[in-house]
Amino acid sequence: MSSLTKTATVTFDAESIRKDFPVLSQSVYGKPLVYLDNAATSQKPQPVIDALVKYYSQYNANIHRGVHYLSQAASQAYDNVRIKVKDFINAASEEEVVFTSGTTDAINLVAATWGRQQISEGDEIIISAMEHHSNIVPWQMLCLDKKAVLKVIPMNDDGELVMPEFEKLLSGKTKIVAVVHTSNSLGTVNPVAAIVHAVRQHEKKTGKTVPVLIDAAQAVVHEPVDVQKLDCDFLCFSAHKMLGPTGVGVLYGKTNLLNSMPPYRGGGDMIKSVSFEKTTYNDIPFRFEAGTPNIADVIAFGAAIDYLNNLDRIGAVNHEIMLAEKAANALSEMDGVQLIGTAHQKTSVVSFIIEGVNAMDAGMYLDTLGIAVRTGHHCTEPVMQRFHIPGTIRASFLFYNTLAETETLVQGVKKAVDKLRR
Ligand code: ALA
Repeated sequence: MSSLTKTATVTFDAESIRKDFPVLSQSVYGKPLVYLDNAATSQKPQPVIDALVKYYSQYNANIHRGVHYLSQAASQAYDNVRIKVKDFINAASEEEVVFTSGTTDAINLVAATWGRQQISEGDEIIISAMEHHSNIVPWQMLCLDKKAVLKVIPMNDDGELVMPEFEKLLSGKTKIVAVVHTSNSLGTVNPVAAIVHAVRQHEKKTGKTVPVLIDAAQAVVHEPVDVQKLDCDFLCFSAHKMLGPTGVGVLYGKTNLLNSMPPYRGGGDMIKSVSFEKTTYNDIPFRFEAGTPNIADVIAFGAAIDYLNNLDRIGAVNHEIMLAEKAANALSEMDGVQLIGTAHQKTSVVSFIIEGVNAMDAGMYLDTLGIAVRTGHHCTEPVMQRFHIPGTIRASFLFYNTLAETETLVQGVKKAVDKLRR
């Protein structure tokens, strides 16, 4: 497995960093917790927890509605996070940042607004073979509704997209390309810059505009994503996979696209004026944020961004990739163990199967040893169908994991092989 490592050797002190994450210091079933389910959700550092407690204990109020002190304080804290997100992804302006409830909600927003407005019978939507269900089902629903066609970029046996096949799929009927940056079940890091570039070349040839949506849910905690450099049209991600709370996500969209899109949900804050005859909608991004938003979690999301900004991110990615490579190398040498997802460019996700062992049984066994992994199809059933397997065991590493934990996983899998393999 090769990696995203940026520099040769960087010492990264995971042992000190993990002290910031209270949940990591506990034991389960009398064994030290080894949390390797970071692709499902990351753990939260103390400043994120503190931000939640501070909001609820000191300035809980609704935002953008009150002239009183608490409402002003909450509104300011909430609005500041939009600026933090803008800087985090290098958006051109904060109006390009829409708060959603997560990546799934962000993709559904685009399908339900831009999609319903722009897609007609016979149009084609391109996704890839390694999408999470959240980047398949909203498009399938739209295709059913509009009699449009879903096209799928195939992948090879290593779990890499076949780029020449992607270029063949681009046609005069292509209306949008929606692809995952980093696969949650295989760990593949896709060539998203090359995908955007190919679409831009296609646009020049055909004179037709084709937006590119990137699902960056598994990417942003590991590597900086610069939307202007990437030149994607939409970027979707979730706070909870990047040290923040659940229930908050981001839809980034280029200003001209967001401005062209009808509202998503109707309600308070998304309007300028309402009468029984006519409603005038608010400007972006508020047009897409109807109702009282997830104020506390957005504010705590800001603390997660601060935490990441203060982290040695190159050291962090080197460290987590080093752990994943060590685990993958050790597992691949075990009799009966097969890695699933051996792409050249990978994040710190190690998916594997044990011949003759049900993945869930293996996961439950590892759990008794204090090791938390995810098992099953990881909401990517078509990936499992591609590899003709029902599911995998997935260990996903983050910068606070340690070499000792990696060794515990390897020893745990060895025991699982010995005990469970028929
Ligand atoms: N999408 C999350 C995962 O990969 C939940 O586990």
